[in-house]
Amino acid sequence: MSDHSAAIEDFLLERRTFPPPRAFRDAAAVSDRSLYEAADADWEGFWAAQARELVDWYEPWTSVCEWDLPFATWFAGAKLNVSYNCLDRHVEAGQGDRVAFFWEGEPGDRRVITYSDLLDEVCRFANVLKGLGVERGDRVAIYMPMIPELPVAMLACARIGAPHSIVFGGFSSEALAGRIQDARAEVLVTADGGWRRGTISGLKPNADAACAECPTIRHVVVVRRTGQEVAMVDGRDLWWHDLMGGAATECAPERMDSEDLLYLLYTSGTTAKPKGIMHTTGGYLTQIAFTHKYVFDLKAESDVYWCAADIGWVTGHSYIVYGPLANGATGVMYEGTPDFPDRDRWWEIIERYRVSILYTAPTAIRTFMKWGSELPAKHDLSSLRLLGSVGEPINPEAWVWYHENIGGGRCPVVDTWWQTETGSILISPLPGVTTLKPGSATFPLPGVGAEVVDDHGNRVEKGGGYLCLTRPWPAMLRGIYGDPERYRQTYWSRFEGRYFAGDGAKVDDDGYLWLLGRVDDVMNVSGHRISTTEVESALVDHPAVAEAAVVGAQDPTTGQAIVAYVTLKASEVASEERGEELRTHVASVIGPIARPRTVIFTDELPKTRSGKIMRRLLADVANGRSLGDTTTLADPSVVEEIRSRASGGSADEE
Ligand code: WT7
Repeated sequence: MSDHSAAIEDFLLERRTFPPPRAFRDAAAVSDRSLYEAADADWEGFWAAQARELVDWYEPWTSVCEWDLPFATWFAGAKLNVSYNCLDRHVEAGQGDRVAFFWEGEPGDRRVITYSDLLDEVCRFANVLKGLGVERGDRVAIYMPMIPELPVAMLACARIGAPHSIVFGGFSSEALAGRIQDARAEVLVTADGGWRRGTISGLKPNADAACAECPTIRHVVVVRRTGQEVAMVDGRDLWWHDLMGGAATECAPERMDSEDLLYLLYTSGTTAKPKGIMHTTGGYLTQIAFTHKYVFDLKAESDVYWCAADIGWVTGHSYIVYGPLANGATGVMYEGTPDFPDRDRWWEIIERYRVSILYTAPTAIRTFMKWGSELPAKHDLSSLRLLGSVGEPINPEAWVWYHENIGGGRCPVVDTWWQTETGSILISPLPGVTTLKPGSATFPLPGVGAEVVDDHGNRVEKGGGYLCLTRPWPAMLRGIYGDPERYRQTYWSRFEGRYFAGDGAKVDDDGYLWLLGRVDDVMNVSGHRISTTEVESALVDHPAVAEAAVVGAQDPTTGQAIVAYVTLKASEVASEERGEELRTHVASVIGPIARPRTVIFTDELPKTRSGKIMRRLLADVANGRSLGDTTTLADPSVVEEIRSRASGGSADEE
């Protein structure tokens, strides 16, 4: 245990290590330290070399990186087009028949889309947008389910230089309206609805409600997906298929500046107005192509890559659409939920398409743990060779479960840390190089500067603190749309000269980085600052536990006391003894200081739409009630309260 004054203390010690399997390393894109060495010697030169190798440019840059803290310019003066890089160049190189996406709808309908098909559709929709008066620089809002028309719309925007702003299809009409208003978008692309767990989610009615508050919207383009009756406003609303039927299949890509806006993506807070995160063109494409190639060890000719996120999140922007397509990869896209029609839908998809790389989130992995390992065991998952994780700290036990039950013990697991703001993965293993430790995102990638600092901004060589980025990176956000001061305040004011990510992290004896969750969630028990992640990992370490969320509740003696919400595996039963056992288990794994005062069993934890546990809501519940000193056995009113507040809260809550 480290000293008392540490920013965040360091309790858990995970000793298991997994070096790259011999066969994996021998075939890997990189299996030595050459990329790290090149980047350490000259990080700007390193990024310039990656930009030349991975991206096609119409005109070269005059400088690699201009840094006027906190405003960066990457590849100044260079010209390129993202849709050209994702499509035309592969078709010109004779790869037009390669599959870009194996798409599967939730009801079971399927489409196979080649690079030639995609180029054709993208050109047509680019012409449709032009026909609707969309010009270079105009913002286009997109509110769609996971159907092929979504990447088509994105790439069409990129082709004509109109930045897109995608709003996740699960968001409410108010969330959509707020984002359209902030971006002053002129066209909205949506669908009648989408399939979710066997029922139709109505997108068009939400779009209509939003547009009533958005005078900037001139046209709404509607994809027919589910076929239910929808209202169409005369003169404003147009069917996708009507417009596409008459559109030409040639559309010259715009020559965009490296720093032209590629897209806006809004991140929300619980209270504040969502921030329009700005991502631009040349640096972004360079870094996501680089990370997609090396973090996933991509072999474009043979891999079938599945990032199971929704394109409405940054993960989908960077690692379903732009990164994989820039690299000429073959991807899988799935519309629906993992439990429709049955809880083995994902394993069925992996078996059907012979998926070799799977990229998903800890929340999904813990759900599959809860459902049981018999489900993946029923399927042939032998095509998998690499697994990835993103979105939250992955508890060591979930990592090991994923490695064994999905990866058959043979696939490296890359735990990738990044944010909407970073645009690209920044901290992650390179699977042919790095010895893995379950639960650690390991090291900053080549070219990335990251460090852990204490309350005063001094570098922490070992122990816990705040994660900072020490230099600009090509895919970094360029600001918050329309609010440069908020950009500076939010990210660049806490520690001088550094980007503060809002996350706690610790460094171990070997220099590995371990993410500890958002610093706002850190608990203070008798003066010890304890990360939620470590206590949750200790709980998930118990064989009966599938998932856990811990929060601090006011306590007259200790300042804050730890309250644990626990979901057991499907085969386990909650009992008072079980609660006692879990409290003791945490005390033995971490130390008596971290023993939860209260354990509450619940079937589900409240989560954001992107799958992150809503600890603040749980903390409100814990603080609003006097919870006893022991196990609160499946207290139905607590669970009810969590549920009602999770569903009644703003759909925007993040
Ligand atoms: C926050 C960013 C990055 C795409 C999806 C989420 C947490 C993300 C990890 C990881 C620990 C992680 C952080 C980060 N996070 N990846 N591998 N280990 N924490 O994007 O919604 O902008 O969220 O997600 O707290 O700050 P986002």
